[in-house]
Amino acid sequence: MEGFEGLVVNSPTQHKSGARDLFSILTGFVVSAVVIGVVVPRFLPSMPFLGKKSKQRGVPVEVGGEEGYAIRNAQASELIESPHRDATTVAALFEQTCNKHSQNRFLGTRKFIGREFVKAGDGSKLEKLHLGDYEWQTYGQAFVRACNFASGLIKLGHEVDTRAAIFGDTRAEWFIAFQGCFRQNITVVTIYSSLGEDALIHSLNETEVSTLICDSKQLTKMTSISSSLNTIKNVIYFEDEGISDANECGSYSNWTVTSFSEVEKLGQKNPAHPRLPSKNDIAAIMYTSGSTGLPKGVVITHGNVVASTAAITIVLPRLYSTDVYIAYLPLAHVFELVAESVVMAAGCQIGYGSALTLTDTSSKIKKGTKGDVSVLKPTLMATVPAIIDRIRDAVHNKVEEKGGIAKNLFNIGFKRRLAAVEGSWFGAWGLERMFWDNIVFKNIRQVFGGRIRYSICSGAPLSTDSQRFINICMGAPVGQAYGITETFAAVTVSEKDDTTVGRVGPPLQSCYIKLVSWKDGGYLTSDKPMPRGEIVVGGPSVTAGYFKNQEKTDEVYKVDEKGMRWFYTGDIGRFHPDGCLEIIDRKKDIVKLQHGEYISLGKIEAALISSNYVEKIMAFADPYHSYCIALVVPLRQELEKWAQEAGINYNDFSELCGKNEAVSEVQQSLYKVAKAEKLDKYEIPRKIYLAPDPWTPESGLVTAALKIRREQIKSKFKSEIEKLYA
Ligand SMILES: *[C@@H]1O[C@H](CO)[C@@H](O)[C@H](O)[C@H]1NC(C)=O
Ligand SMILES: *[C@@H]1O[C@H](CO)[C@@H](O)[C@H](O)[C@H]1NC(C)=O
Ligand SMILES: *[C@@H]1O[C@H](CO)[C@@H](O)[C@H](O)[C@H]1NC(C)=O
Repeated sequence: MEGFEGLVVNSPTQHKSGARDLFSILTGFVVSAVVIGVVVPRFLPSMPFLGKKSKQRGVPVEVGGEEGYAIRNAQASELIESPHRDATTVAALFEQTCNKHSQNRFLGTRKFIGREFVKAGDGSKLEKLHLGDYEWQTYGQAFVRACNFASGLIKLGHEVDTRAAIFGDTRAEWFIAFQGCFRQNITVVTIYSSLGEDALIHSLNETEVSTLICDSKQLTKMTSISSSLNTIKNVIYFEDEGISDANECGSYSNWTVTSFSEVEKLGQKNPAHPRLPSKNDIAAIMYTSGSTGLPKGVVITHGNVVASTAAITIVLPRLYSTDVYIAYLPLAHVFELVAESVVMAAGCQIGYGSALTLTDTSSKIKKGTKGDVSVLKPTLMATVPAIIDRIRDAVHNKVEEKGGIAKNLFNIGFKRRLAAVEGSWFGAWGLERMFWDNIVFKNIRQVFGGRIRYSICSGAPLSTDSQRFINICMGAPVGQAYGITETFAAVTVSEKDDTTVGRVGPPLQSCYIKLVSWKDGGYLTSDKPMPRGEIVVGGPSVTAGYFKNQEKTDEVYKVDEKGMRWFYTGDIGRFHPDGCLEIIDRKKDIVKLQHGEYISLGKIEAALISSNYVEKIMAFADPYHSYCIALVVPLRQELEKWAQEAGINYNDFSELCGKNEAVSEVQQSLYKVAKAEKLDKYEIPRKIYLAPDPWTPESGLVTAALKIRREQIKSKFKSEIEKLYA
C-alpha cells in the first residue's frame, strides 16, 4: 500500500515552514518561558492529580466456553448489537442517516486543477498534483447516487447472487459503491490495492467475483491477468480527471467495461427495486494481507459492522454534523472502513485525501500548493503508529537541528505539558497550557490543519513516547484501539479521560474479552499481579469465519454452549485492575531457544527499534541455537552521517551496509538500547545483518500497516540468516 509509505517517507520535511515561523517568534517569549517553566514550579507543590484514583472501566463477567478470565465494559451489562433498534444492517443504517442528515455535507472530494510530472534527481518522473478546494455532496445526494449505482449494476446484468469486488484507493465513489451494493444485498469483496498479483487472482477467483470495481489505473493490470480471471463479466472503473480512460481494455477480453458515472446514469434511467439484506447476511469478504501465504477472506455480516459501529460511537467524544473527518487510510482495511461507518452514522463530513497528498509537503503535492489537511482542516483523524512515529521523529529532528533557545523552549514546554497530562503537576490546564500551545505547539498543529480534536490510532501498539508526543503536540486525545479484521475492527478503545499510556482500554460494549492461559508460553490467568493469557473475543462483532476455509475457521473460532461466538486472536494480553487491556505479546512470535528460554521476538524488536540506526528490524531465533539474531534496515541518513564522521569510504549504501565497521557500530547501538530496556542476555541479538533496501508493502516484506511479515522476510533473507548462524 503506497499510502502509508508515502506519508512516512515524506514526513521529515513536513515541519519546515512551520518551524521557521515558530523559531522567529520564540525569542520574545524566552523571558516569560523561563519564568513559567523554571521559576513557577519551584513555588508549587508537586501533587498527585486529585482525580487520578483509577476509575473502574471494565469488570469481570461470567461467560461460557473455555475457562478463562473474562472482562466486560463497566458501563453496560448487556452487549449492544446496533446503533438503534431498527439499524440492524449497514444498508438500514446508511438509509436512516441519509434521511436524517439529508441537507448536510457528507462526502468531499478535492477539485482537480492539474497534474504534472517533474524529473527527480535520479531521472525518474514524479507525479505532482495541483488540487483545489473540497467539493461537497450532501447525505441526500450520496443516497441517491448509491441507489442509482445499485440500479445500474442490475441493468448491467450483474446477477444479485454473485459477488462484486472493490479494488481501489480510498475515495468517495468507493464508499458509494460499497453502500450501493447493499441496496441489492450484494456481497462486496474488498482487496488491498497493494496486494500482489497472485493474491489478487486468488481472492477474485475464490469468491467467484462477477463484477469488479477498480481504479482506472488498474485496468491495464487487470487486462494482463484476465486469462486467470474466469468469473468476471463486468468491470467498472472510477474515473480520474486528467487520465485518459483505458477503454481499449474491452478489446482484450470479454468483459463489459463501464465507467462509474455511466453505471450511475444507467441506474437513474432504469431504477430497480431495492432488495435489502438482513442482519445475518454477508456484507463483505475482506482479504487481509496476512503475515503468511495467500490472503484469507474474512466473512463479515451486516450485524458485525453495525455492532462495532454502535460500540465505537459510544467511546468517542460526542460527534456533530460540523465535525470533519479526513479519510486517507485504505478503505479495504477494516480500521478505515469502521471509522467511516462511525462518522457516517453520526452525520459528520468525510473529506477524502490520500497519504501522498495529505500535507503541504507530501510527495504528490505540487510545490507551493496545499495538502489535503491544510484545505480541509479536519477535526477527526485516524492514524497508525508508523505515521505517528515518523511525525514525532521529524519534529524532534527539527528541534535538534535548530538547537539553542528554540530547543530549550520546546523541551521545557514539552516537559511542562507532560507533567500536566500525567497529572503530577496541578493546575496546568489554564493559562499555562494556552501559553505553550500558542508559542510551541500551534505550528506543529497547523501541519494537520490546526483543528484536530480527536484522533484514533490502531494497527499496532503505539509506543509510550509516541502516544505522549502526539497527546501534547496535537493537544487532543488519541484513542488507542485494539482489534483485527476477524473481530470487525476495534474490540477495545482507550477512553478519553484515561491518561495512562501503553494500554488499549476496556472491552467495547459490543464484546466480552477473555484471557485464556497459555501454558507453553508461560502466560497464565493466575499470574500476579495481573492475569495474563491469550486474548479471546466474544460477541456480535465476531465475524463468521474464513471464506471456504472451514479448517482454519474451526481452529480459531469457537461457539460456546450459550451460542456465543469467540475468536482466538493469538495475541497475548493482561488485564489491569481497572479492567483495561494491555497487549504484551504475540503467540506466534515466541520461540523457545535451545536451552529452554522463551524469547519474544516482538518484545525484542519493540525495544531495539529505539536505536537511532534502526529503520526496521526483525529478530529471528532458531530453536536449535541458544541465541537470536536480527535483520536490520538501517536509517540511511544516520548511518551515512556516522560513516562520514568516522571517515569510512564507500561507493554506495549497500557497500556501507556490508562493512564490518558499520555492522559493529549498529550492533553496539543495539546493545546499549537493549541494556537500557533491560533485555536479558539471550534476548540481545548476537549477530546482525544490515539490509540496505527499505522494506515496503510493495516488496511484500511489510503489511499495508507497515508491520513486518516474518515469513516473507525469512524467505527473502534465507541465505543471510544461514550465514549468521553458521
Ligand atoms: C480458480 O478456482 C477454481 C476452483 O473454484 C480452481 O480450479 C482454479 O484453479 C482457480 N484458478 C486460479 C487461477 O487460481
Ligand atoms: C470470449 O468468449 C468466447 C466465447 O464465449 C471465447 O471463445 C473466447 O476465448 C473469449 N475470449 C477471451 C479473451 O476470454
Ligand atoms: C441476501 O442474499 C443472500 C445470498 O444471496 C441470501 O441468502 C439472502 O436470503 C438474501 N437476504 C434477503 C433478506 O433476501
